[in-house]
Amino acid sequence: MEITLVGYGNQGRAWAANLRDSGWKVRVSGRVGGSGMKEAQKAGFPVISPEQLGAVTGPVAILLPDEAVAGFYAQYLSQGRGRQFLFAHGFAVTFGKIPFAPEDDVILVGVKGIGTKLRENYLAGSGVMGVLDVRQNASGKGWELADLVAEGLGLKRVGTLKSTFEQETKTDLLSEQVILCGAVPRLVEETIEFLVEKGIDRQLATYECLNELKLIVDMMVEYGVKGMMDRVSTAAYFGGNEAAEVVLPKAELRNRTEKLWRAIEDGSFAKRLAETAGKTRKK
Ligand SMILES: NC(=O)c1ccc[n+]([C@@H]2O[C@H](COP(=O)([O-])OP(=O)(O)OC[C@H]3O[C@@H](n4cnc5c(N)ncnc54)[C@H](OP(=O)(O)O)[C@@H]3O)[C@@H](O)[C@H]2O)c1
Repeated sequence: MEITLVGYGNQGRAWAANLRDSGWKVRVSGRVGGSGMKEAQKAGFPVISPEQLGAVTGPVAILLPDEAVAGFYAQYLSQGRGRQFLFAHGFAVTFGKIPFAPEDDVILVGVKGIGTKLRENYLAGSGVMGVLDVRQNASGKGWELADLVAEGLGLKRVGTLKSTFEQETKTDLLSEQVILCGAVPRLVEETIEFLVEKGIDRQLATYECLNELKLIVDMMVEYGVKGMMDRVSTAAYFGGNEAAEVVLPKAELRNRTEKLWRAIEDGSFAKRLAETAGKTRKK
């Protein structure tokens, strides 16, 4: 099997390496002059220019930052017909208004984990979870390709779920805004700093607030939230239940989550992202 990957960043590197190790012939494309193309070449992948993408016949996975996809498509991919496009996230297709040809397949192989984990877990004989959808299936072979790619990436070792581009995108955005990249990093950082200000050793504060969080998350994954709470000490159970309402009052949390959801649903979050992302992010 042959595949062309557009973009050689977090996901691109992992897709390229995992698929090659799974027996795929992988070629890479992307913007000229960036570091990705040089890295891909160094890693032994054949590289083609964006202008050559028009002549590619096999599947093409677009692994660019979501806000860059529509522009790249308009410039280099809008002329063809009967292509098979794959995406690692539903965002660009849900919000990007990309004018795919009716003869194209548009396929989601959503990767539920960062690229480095996708690669690490693959090498360890495991994977990360995948979310699959086929939004346009002109060839009739979209689902077969989604399955093959998911298998090559190692997603099937953990499991895949059928969903839709829209649901994957909106769930992903809300969970990262509210929990994963919103409340959790803020709570960890602020609580560690609070304890340090109160004279607590930073290492101890970090272990309690961050390393122990990992153990609690592992327990929630294994036993569920209630199962985890059933297993903690009485002080943790009593104190935690009382403090949850102090730190995150339920009704207020609900209202604020509702506000974030509305901005995702009506596209205003995607619009703000397109206007500001990349310009404000410091790495
Ligand atoms: N971060 C993750 O691990 C993760 C997890 C799940 C899903 N995803 C999804 O995977 C896709 C790729 O995300 P990513 O995090 O891998 O992206 P990324 O690392 O930020 O960038 C990937 C590639 O895009 C190129 N690029 C950046 N801006 C560009 C532009 N304006 N025009 C053309 N090329 C451009 C970069 O080129 P240079 O090398 O030249 O800089 C790089 O090769 C997205 O759909 C994302 O939602 C990502």
